[in-house]
Amino acid sequence: MSSHGAPIPMTSTACGPLTGVAEVPGDKSISHRSLILGAMAVGETTINGLLEGQDVLDTAKAMRAFGAEVTDHGGGSWSVQGVGVGGFAEPENVIDCGNSGTGVRLIMGAMATSPITATFTGDASLNGRPMARITDPLALFGCQSVGRKGGRLPMTLVGAADPVPVRYEVPVPSAQVKSAVLLAGLNTPGQTVVIEAEATRDHTERMLAGFGAEVTVEQTDAGRVITLTGQPELKPQHIDVPRDPSSAAFPVCAALIVPGSDVLVPGIGLNPTRAGVFTTLREMGADLTYENECEEGGEPVADLRARFSPNLKGIEVPPERAASMIDEYPVLSVVAAFAEGQTVMRGVKELRVKESDRIDAMATGLRGNGIEVEDGPDWWIVTGRGHGEVPGGATCASHLDHRIAMSFMILGMASQKPVQLDDGGPIATSFPIFEPLMQQLGAQVTRNAG
Ligand code: S3P
Repeated sequence: MSSHGAPIPMTSTACGPLTGVAEVPGDKSISHRSLILGAMAVGETTINGLLEGQDVLDTAKAMRAFGAEVTDHGGGSWSVQGVGVGGFAEPENVIDCGNSGTGVRLIMGAMATSPITATFTGDASLNGRPMARITDPLALFGCQSVGRKGGRLPMTLVGAADPVPVRYEVPVPSAQVKSAVLLAGLNTPGQTVVIEAEATRDHTERMLAGFGAEVTVEQTDAGRVITLTGQPELKPQHIDVPRDPSSAAFPVCAALIVPGSDVLVPGIGLNPTRAGVFTTLREMGADLTYENECEEGGEPVADLRARFSPNLKGIEVPPERAASMIDEYPVLSVVAAFAEGQTVMRGVKELRVKESDRIDAMATGLRGNGIEVEDGPDWWIVTGRGHGEVPGGATCASHLDHRIAMSFMILGMASQKPVQLDDGGPIATSFPIFEPLMQQLGAQVTRNAG
C-alpha cells in the first residue's frame, strides 16, 4: 500500500541513452530543518527551493499545529512566521508525520523542552520504527513519553516544564538523534553537549549557527563534540535550499548503467557529510565529474555530470564512509549489479531500521532479478554480473520505502527484462517528479494500466 492512497504498480523497461539535464528537487534534510528552525525563530523566515515532497509537507503541517504560520507562495517559495524558542503552542490534534522519520524525530526534539503535550503517529512504516533512540535522551532533559511496545508510535510526549541541560553521547550514528537533542537544547538553560563518535550530516549545526545560535564544534579523540548555548533568540533567515544529493544519486546511477548516457544534474549540495556515494561511484570506475563547484548558503554545491561507464568494478566500501552515504546504499547496490566482481558493504546496521529494512528489501528484489546477494546483520555483498548481463524480470516490493521503489526502477532501465514494482506511491515522499524527470531523460518508467 502506498502511504497516501491506493498502490501504484509501475514498470521500468530497458531504454536507449539517457541524455539531458536532470533538475532534482530540494534537499529533504535541509527542507525539514528550514521549517522547524523557521518556526522557532522570531519573525519571518523565507525559503526558496523547498522540497515539496509529502515528508516535508507533513512537517509544514506539524509546524502549523504548534502555532507557526507557514505559507506556500508557489514555485518552491515558502515563508514561516516563527513563534520563537519556547513559543510552541500545544497542538489540538494528533501530529501525523506520515512516512518521515526525520520529521517526527526532529519535531519531538523541538517540543520536548516546552510545557506542552503532543501525540505523534505515522504510516505503517514509521509506526514500526524505533523511537527510544530519541525518547531516551529527551528523558534526560525531563521530557516524558509513552508509546507502544518497543518504543513505537503512536506516542505521546509531555514536554519538560523545567528542562535541564544534557551531555549526550549518541550511541548510533544518527543525525536525527543528534538533531533531536540539539533542538531540545534550544529551550533549555545552560549548555547542551552532543558527542558523536562518527560524523553524521551536519545541517542542524550549520543552520543553528546561521539562525544566530551559539554553537561550537570540536574534533576530539572521542569524536565531534557539539556544544549549544540554550535559550537564544533565533533570528529569521532567508534560505536557498540546495538540490538533494540523495535524489541526484538516482539519475546519476541510471546514467552510469544505461549505454550511451550523458546526464547533467545541476546545483547539487555536496556537503562532505552527504557526498560519500559519489566518491564510492568514482572508485568503482564511474565517469562522474563535478563542474562549476561553488558555495551557496554555507553549503558546497556543484553540477554533476554522469556518463555511461562501461568498466564498473565492485569495491569494498569503507565502513567509515557509511554515514555520508547511508541513504544511497540501495541505489549503489543496483550499480553494483552491473559492475564486475563483488561490492562489499559493511558497518551498515542502520540500513535495517530505515523506512524499511533496506538490506532485506534490496537483497530480496535483486535476487528475484537474478543477482547474487549475501547478507548478515550489518553487512551485504552484491556479486555483479556486468553490463548487459542483469536478467531482471521480477516484481519487487517497495515496502513503503521511496528509495527502494526508485532503486528498482533504475535497475529496470538496463536489465534484460522489465522490472516491475508493486507500489511506486512512496516515491512522492522525497522525489515527487521522479517519473517525469526520468522520462524526459529517455527512461521508460510507466505506471501500469488499470
Ligand atoms: C536524516 C538522517 C538520516 C537519513 C535520513 C535523513 C536527517 O537518518 O537516513 O534520510 O535529515 O537527519 P538517521 O539519523 O537515522 O541516520
